[in-house]
Amino acid sequence: MLKVLEHPLITHKLTQMRKKETKTKDFRENLDEIGGLMAYEITRNLPVKEVEIETPIQPMNTYELEKDIILVPILRAGLGMVNGISNLIPTVKVAHVGLYRDEETLQPHVYFEKYPPNIKDAIVMIVDPMLATGGSASAAIDMVKKQGAKDIRLVCLVGAPEGVKVIEEQHPDVDIYLAALDEKLNEKGYIIPGLGDAGDRIFGTK
Ligand code: PRP
Ligand code: URA
Repeated sequence: MLKVLEHPLITHKLTQMRKKETKTKDFRENLDEIGGLMAYEITRNLPVKEVEIETPIQPMNTYELEKDIILVPILRAGLGMVNGISNLIPTVKVAHVGLYRDEETLQPHVYFEKYPPNIKDAIVMIVDPMLATGGSASAAIDMVKKQGAKDIRLVCLVGAPEGVKVIEEQHPDVDIYLAALDEKLNEKGYIIPGLGDAGDRIFGTK
């Protein structure tokens, strides 16, 4: 399933990020804020369990989240979405998957991975601002599946139809959430209109 989260605040903040004159500080802050807004929408249907608690007045039956949530940022750019989401869900555990895309072949290369122990039973949210060819996201999904993850969601800011197609074909069990579905990829594998190189804009490396 593909869901594009059309919300005026998300769109407004994404527009600020897309502007070429937006500097690192504002780029990061807007990404943080969009991460939180997307998390609110994505967690709407999370399973809850009934619990018995005591308020200062009397006992009551109510509900809590049933499952652990594990965030999996794809390094580097995915790190930019961790704060915003974990501010909203403070109990999240954070795994790390290090992948870079070869500039010539556009193929993903793995350079790091680290997971918390209970990934099999958790809700896993892979986060990365950009879904371009889909190679990195598909590789990250393969990696968490190898660890036993079963309930996986892919959360990206900007997606290209090419990348969405790859994930839908290779991982039909994974729900995809985007803030915007852009037009297509250019000859260098960049999303157009897109927002440029997310990692470089977050970390000021260009
Ligand atoms: C970017 C982006 C995604 C990937 C998307 O990362 O953050 O991970 O490219 O492209 P794809 O869908 O074609 O695989 P990059 O490899 O530039 O690494 P970085 O985050 O360290 O900058
Ligand atoms: N990675 C990015 O950071 N931006 C793109 O447009 C495509 C891949």
